Amino acid sequence: MTDTLVIAIDGPSGSGKSSVSKAVARHFNLEYLDTGAMYRALTWYCLNEKVDVEDATALVTAARTFPYVQGTSPDEEVIEVGGVDVREAIREPRISEAVSSVASNLEVRQILIDLQRRFIAEAKNGMVAEGRDITTVVAPDADARVLLTANEEVRLARRGLQLGGTQNKDQLVHQVSERDKKDSKTTSFTEAAPGVTLVDSSDLNFEETIDAVIAAVNTALGR
Ligand code: DC
Repeated sequence: MTDTLVIAIDGPSGSGKSSVSKAVARHFNLEYLDTGAMYRALTWYCLNEKVDVEDATALVTAARTFPYVQGTSPDEEVIEVGGVDVREAIREPRISEAVSSVASNLEVRQILIDLQRRFIAEAKNGMVAEGRDITTVVAPDADARVLLTANEEVRLARRGLQLGGTQNKDQLVHQVSERDKKDSKTTSFTEAAPGVTLVDSSDLNFEETIDAVIAAVNTALGR
């Protein structure tokens, strides 16, 4: 861990953690790491290279060798695999469908966790890292740790808006609640671990959520 500020933010899909984490990074003038993007980019690489995501050995080889570049500015997203810009492609439904299979492989997780820890250690300006297991596994000794949640109805509505209002309720339940259920077999992000501050954004708008997370961080820092 660095001697600069590290803030860990976890939460389920549709909790708003990516946009909130970026805003918090800007507020504290820190770098930003979207760890879900790593699992998504590796999934994109596997599908592109015709690696069977159910084949554990092939998956681990892919995780060890995938040519990955990720930026850490909260203002400009850079996500490249082998020089290809995959920022949009990794958000496609086919990736959301397959990503839990990749993320449930423990050896793959260890490779990506090591990479995430390197990103955090090398962040000269300090970092906000967000995901599912940052507060508990990747950076349990972060200076401030927050679990951002919202009730299921609110999370479905937010994800629906993000996807342009084109999905019906069944599709959203499949993409949000069922994926969370699969992911919670490997990571624990439904309850705050000891020392992690829970921020429930169900009744908060975007600005209020940012303010609540900043307040939780300041309290954790003793400010
Ligand atoms: O936050 P997201 O939806 O972009 O994450 C994509 C997937 O990656 C998600 O289904 C769970 C997995 N993930 C994980 O297992 N651990 C993390 N730290 C971040 C994401």
